[in-house]
Amino acid sequence: MRTVLVTGGTGYIGSHTVVELQEAGYKVVIVDNLSNSYAEVVDSIEAITGTRPVFEKVDLKDREATLEVFEAHPNIEAVIHFAALKAVGESVEIPLEYYKNNIDSLIHILEAMQQYDVKNIVFSSSCTVYGEPDQLPVTEQAPIKKANAPYGNTKQICEEIMQDYRVPNPQINVISLRYFNPIGAHPSALIGELPIGVPNNLVPFITQTAIGLREELKVFGDDYNTPDGSAIRDYINVVDLAKAHVVSIERLLNGNNKQGYEIFNLGTGKGNSVLEVIKAFEKVTGAPLKYKIVGRREGDVEQVYADTRYANDELGWKAEKDLEETLASAWKWEQHYRSKEKERE
Ligand code: UD1
Repeated sequence: MRTVLVTGGTGYIGSHTVVELQEAGYKVVIVDNLSNSYAEVVDSIEAITGTRPVFEKVDLKDREATLEVFEAHPNIEAVIHFAALKAVGESVEIPLEYYKNNIDSLIHILEAMQQYDVKNIVFSSSCTVYGEPDQLPVTEQAPIKKANAPYGNTKQICEEIMQDYRVPNPQINVISLRYFNPIGAHPSALIGELPIGVPNNLVPFITQTAIGLREELKVFGDDYNTPDGSAIRDYINVVDLAKAHVVSIERLLNGNNKQGYEIFNLGTGKGNSVLEVIKAFEKVTGAPLKYKIVGRREGDVEQVYADTRYANDELGWKAEKDLEETLASAWKWEQHYRSKEKERE
């Protein structure tokens, strides 16, 4: 059994990826500092897969502790590095925290990989690196735009760090996955997106509004140059996204990567507007969602969706689930989580 270290493995995308890795036969070691997730996620992963992943509560800003994880698990053959702070607005408020956390963590991981001779890493990047793209859909060759917030800048800097690091260390294989907008939850409804506090992202805000935790959804802008005036994104099912990580790990471990540093867009290739997402969600629940149109949110781009051909052809991976099925999974998760929460009270 091959061992993969998953940093941020109790987080949203991380936990779904751990499930898919274990179901594909990998042994998983999770590292997470639980700054934006809960230890109980490990129980849920075990409930879904029948296997309990190893869990190390470690903060990757701590270099020694990071090295100790590799020392304790000498069989690690690859790393998937999810662990990062990711709230765009917060990153404007506390930029140094974002730079320190996201960049130091990557550097410590790379140092540990060097010391323990681990050669493969999959990195969580974001379509935010494309900014407001000149051409749609966006290919991997689209130019990187100046980041509009420290969060996006940390993703750009991390990609550059890995490229620079490979110059004297060409034996290191990197796959950088640029996610579009991951949404939804595992069909079991045992894991899903669990933002702490008021959600920043669209779909958790929608499900929390539908369940009565939020008064109403604010739609940020209906004066964009799009068919219905609301902004367009490429919403991808989180389980589909997780599966792309398994394929990427297989590619690296089997030596099938064509270049030492590869980049893939992970999206569906289809753009949906905020108002379309609301309509699809209303169809799923059969009830109207309370929302109102407000002004644009600062820093938002008008539209972005992926050209997925390179990922489809080269990885042999494709997003399969459609928007309604994915929103239904998000809704099921919200209901399941809140009913369990009531039981606990
Ligand atoms: C943002 C970042 C992305 C980052 C992700 C992680 C940008 C361009 N994108 O994605 O890089 O990885 O957050 O958190 O910075 N919306 C509403 N009302 C709401 C919430 C959102 O109308 O209450 C709209 C937004 O204006 C946007 C769409 O819904 O048009 C999606 O927003 P969100 O889920 O926050 O994701 P992004 O901003 O696309």
